[in-house]
Order: sequence, then C-alpha cells, then structure tokens
Amino acid sequence: MSKVDFNQPVNRHNTSSVKWERYTDQSVLPMWIADTDFKAPDAILKALTQRIEHGVFGYTNASDELNQTIVERMQRLYDWQINSEWIVWIPGLVCGLNISCRALSALSPEIDSNVLIPDPIYPYFNSAAKYSNVAVNKIPMSLQGERWVVDFEALEASITPETIALLFCNPHNPAGTVYTVDELQKISDILLRHNLYICSDEIHCDLLLDKNVVHTPLASLNTEIGQQCITLMAPSKSFNIAGLGCSFAIIANKDLRHKFQGAAAGIVPSVNLLGYSATLAAYTQCDTWLEQKTAYISANHDYLMQEINAIPGLKMLPHQATFLAWIDVSAAKLDNPAAFFEQAGVGLSPGSEFGDNNYVRMNFGCTKELLVEAVTRMRNAITKQLQGL
Ligand SMILES: Cc1ncc(COP(=O)(O)O)c(C=O)c1O
Repeated sequence: MSKVDFNQPVNRHNTSSVKWERYTDQSVLPMWIADTDFKAPDAILKALTQRIEHGVFGYTNASDELNQTIVERMQRLYDWQINSEWIVWIPGLVCGLNISCRALSALSPEIDSNVLIPDPIYPYFNSAAKYSNVAVNKIPMSLQGERWVVDFEALEASITPETIALLFCNPHNPAGTVYTVDELQKISDILLRHNLYICSDEIHCDLLLDKNVVHTPLASLNTEIGQQCITLMAPSKSFNIAGLGCSFAIIANKDLRHKFQGAAAGIVPSVNLLGYSATLAAYTQCDTWLEQKTAYISANHDYLMQEINAIPGLKMLPHQATFLAWIDVSAAKLDNPAAFFEQAGVGLSPGSEFGDNNYVRMNFGCTKELLVEAVTRMRNAITKQLQGL
C-alpha cells in the first residue's frame, strides 16, 4: 500500500459535520468532538461504493463473514478466544453504555443500585447511569509516574452493597491511559471479590501511540472476569467512520447477553447496512492504513506535547493512546478555560464536561498544519493574557 497523505486537508464545511458546523462562519478551529479529519481508507470507500451500486438497502444482518472476522481479530490481536454468538451489533458505543446500565440494573431491580465510574471520564458514562436511574460512585484516578490510573484502593473502598458494576474505559478518555495487564489484574481481582459486573468501553483500543504498550481487553484476562464483562468496541474512531454507526458488544455470559439484548429490544435499531460493509473492509483490508494513521497522530501528539509544555501555565503529560490531549491549564488561572481559548480561535472541549475544570481536552486528529495554527493561537492568547493586554 502506498503512503497515505494525511497532510492533505479535507474540506468538511457544509457536510453537516458536528465538529465543523459548530463554528460555521466563525474563525474558530474545531478541536473538540472526537472524530478525526481524515478520509477513511480507500478500501472502505470502495466497499461502500460497491454496496451502494447494488442499489437495494433492505433490512440487513451482520454476515457470518463479519462475525468470523471479529472472532479472528480478537484471537490475532489479543489471544482472546471468543465465540461468534457472543457478539451483539449495536449502532454506537454511547448506546452500548446505556443498554449496559439498563441491563445491569435490571439484574437487581430490588435495590437502589449504583455503578463505579472513573473520574474524570467521557461524559456519556455519567449520563448513561443517570438515564438508567442508577447512582454514580466516582472513582478518582491517581497519577502513577506520568499516567493517570484508576485508584485501586478508592475503587474497592467505594463499593457498597448496592454497587452492581464498574463502567470502565480503556484506553481512557480523556487521559489516554492504556492499562497494563498487572493493573487490569488488580481491577479484576477487586471486581471478582465483590461479584461485580463490568462494562468495558474499549473504543480507542486500535490507536496506540506508545509502541511499548499493548491493549488487553479486560474480559480476556481470565474466564471468571470474562463472564462478568460486557466489552464494547467499534471501528469508528480508528477508521473515522463514526457517522456510519456500527459497533459491537462482546458478552460471553449468556444470561448477561440476553439481558443486554432485552434492554435494547424494540428501542435500539439494527446497524446501518453501510456500517457493516465499512467494518468488514476496515478489519480485513486496512491494517497498513491504520498503522500509518497511528504514526501520524503519534507525531502530532509529540509535537503538541512539546509546544503545550512550552506555553506558560499549560501542561500536557504523554498520552499512550488516541488523538485526544488532556491539558492541565490550572496554572494559567483562567475563569473559563474553554471559553478563553474559543475566544482566541480554538474550539476545545471544556474539562468540566469530563469532571475537571482545570483541564481542556484537545483533539489532535487533524492535519499538522491545522494543529500548528491552533497551537499558535493558544500560545498568542496566553502571551497576551500574561502581558495583561
Ligand atoms: C470512550 C468513548 N466511548 C464512546 C464514544 C462514542 O461512541 P459512539 O459514537 O459509538 O456512540 C466516544 C467518543 O468520543 C468515546 O471517546
């Protein structure tokens, strides 16, 4: 496969892009919601074109070939032997988080249940609990070297008789942590000791920036934890096909799987047929493209970290995965950090949405040129602020 030119900008204006439409007619660079600005790989475009040319778009299931592809992928990447019956196709991971919360709370209808959720976290974890009338026990993350890791002691101490599950995120959004096998083992031991379920959101698992880390699905650690887990994955972040709405849950435990399917029944529509075609192409023909994309965002990450850490008041730790930077702006003493940078022409996600107003989250899944411009605007804004202009 020839080298993909990720430097080539794609004009996303007037495409109803959530990311870009927010700032239509404003000179603000969109560096917020988590999709990248890159075109999907040619193999996906070709698969979609072929499907469209067929011309009939009736109700469609995932093919046996696609299910088998997932089974083989889990074996190849993670040495995790799954069965194709364990796979449940869903139109999105937020949807999967919500179905999981409803299914898990339905397992213990007699109690006012709560779930454990790491803090900070991608906001739809908390809303999934809220929509399911389940309380949230926030689990702080602590800094281990340069990595934010869930605090194991706090995790265990937060468990009450009403706790039903942990909603876990690995790789973590927003801190970019990829958990080690040892850390997962500790989490698994705690959860098994208390007989808890886990919904493990692993949507960012293909985008490992640090060559020394590997992703390990929590459910793959051992059979016991596998029986307690709902694993959520998708090709959406990896191949920039979030708009095609195709994701899947892997649930080994038959009763849990039936509860999950029951909670979705009649409410959650089946996956769009184009999503299935794109996913099959992504997982069978796009490994090299993904390697190149990961290398590109990894270079963006390194550049961004160097530049951010040279701006007074801003601090960025290395991220092990994905294209989202969690930037500590506390030393800059800004009342409303996201509004400050938006005013300066850079649209970031407020850290408060993830649970910490001392931070902003910045999407660096874009061309280097755009990133350089964003960093320049941020640096200029802070410089002016320091000069009291
Ligand atoms: C951790 C995590 N889970 C879920 C999602 C959203 O997934 P979906 O678009 O499939 O609902 C995102 C998107 O940013 C995410 O970062």
